[in-house]
Amino acid sequence: MSCPIKQDMEQTAEIKKLKNDIRHLKNRIAELVRAEEELKRAEHELIKKEKKFRDLVELLPQTVYEMDLQGNFKFTNNYGIKSFGYTQEDLNKGVNFLQLFIPEERERVKNNIQSLLNGAKLTSNEYTSQRKDGSTFQTLFYSSPIIQNGKHVGLRGVVIDITDRKKAERELKNSRDQLRALATHLQSIREEERLIMAREIHDELGQVLTALKMDLIWMQKRLSPEQTEQLSKISSMSELVDMTIKTVRRISTELRPGLIDDLGLPAAIEWYCGEFKNRTGIICDLDLDEKEHQLEPDRAIAVFRIFQESLTNVARHAKATKIYAHLKCNDHTLTMEIKDNGIGITREQINSHKSLGIVGLRERVNPWGGKVIISGVQNIGTTVKVTLPIQAENMSND
Ligand SMILES: Nc1ncnc2c1ncn2[C@@H]1O[C@H](COP(=O)(O)OP(=O)(O)OP(=O)(O)O)[C@@H](O)[C@H]1O
Ligand SMILES: [Mg+2]
Repeated sequence: MSCPIKQDMEQTAEIKKLKNDIRHLKNRIAELVRAEEELKRAEHELIKKEKKFRDLVELLPQTVYEMDLQGNFKFTNNYGIKSFGYTQEDLNKGVNFLQLFIPEERERVKNNIQSLLNGAKLTSNEYTSQRKDGSTFQTLFYSSPIIQNGKHVGLRGVVIDITDRKKAERELKNSRDQLRALATHLQSIREEERLIMAREIHDELGQVLTALKMDLIWMQKRLSPEQTEQLSKISSMSELVDMTIKTVRRISTELRPGLIDDLGLPAAIEWYCGEFKNRTGIICDLDLDEKEHQLEPDRAIAVFRIFQESLTNVARHAKATKIYAHLKCNDHTLTMEIKDNGIGITREQINSHKSLGIVGLRERVNPWGGKVIISGVQNIGTTVKVTLPIQAENMSND
């Protein structure tokens, strides 16, 4: 028989252990209850957050979508469903991503998705999309891969309807093209009128003045040397007529330098530089390609007018003492460069919409795909560089 005291002691130890176990269990249960509450709270937060994002997505006036790698939609906001002309029911039955594009675009869409999944940088892509009823509209897709557990499982993105923007762009381009065409048209009318005026002044006025001069000589010959008063009058009249003849020549040449038509562009430029130096005192150092090049009159006059306007700008704004200009031609392109050693045009002046003279310079050669590039360095000077295709086949109109 065991000793009753020992039995008591053993029971007490067991009760103690049991109590201890119960306390541990209670703590564990309390911990589990807390964890469950925490989980519920987190779940609730998650639902709240998701609702917040869904509400925001539904508010967006653009399409938001998610799809799997086979192109099946997993989510689309109501705006998206409507703008592509589908219903939620259609979507539940199954609509494939490629159905959102006209057939001609689908290969490009597939390639773009593939390069996105291959790690290409995220960019936007413009497509012609199609609605359920087959009508089309212009869209811009921004997409990015959905990654789960390190693997691509689909794509999500935003689609913007850019039909209005495209229309506005087209209208803007049309009106710009029209304005350019109008400017070119006005320019050519102006040149035609100048040509007519130059001829009229030269031929009509010039002839009358020459006749007057001859009449004066006739009178002079018929007067006796004693008629000094009359002779001196005739001499001063003759001088006046000579001056007027010169003025008429100058005006008609400035209106349309006949040299361009008769002797070509280099000769006209050389003549203009001489005139310019006499008027302004600014030296113009010329390097002209003497090679005979077939530049049609319209292009030659355009280059000459650019030269004239550039030199006028130097005289008016540059505070320069010297100009260096060269004119070169190869079989395809004419290049002209006019450099001055003045204060230098600024970037703002080059790009200002108020610089109409500069706008005019560019427009002069634009109809033939020519370019005028202007640059300036402060207190070093300004450079105007012109390139112009010589042949008609180089024509472009950008
Ligand atoms: N060679 C130059 N050196 C320094 N500044 C220049 C030069 N050419 C042009 N500029 C600056 O650029 C501005 C714009 O030139 P632009 O030819 O367009 O107009 P403008 O000569 O003032 O007037 P216009 O319409 O009569 O030609 C000028 O007002 C001037 O400030
Ligand atoms: Mg000017």
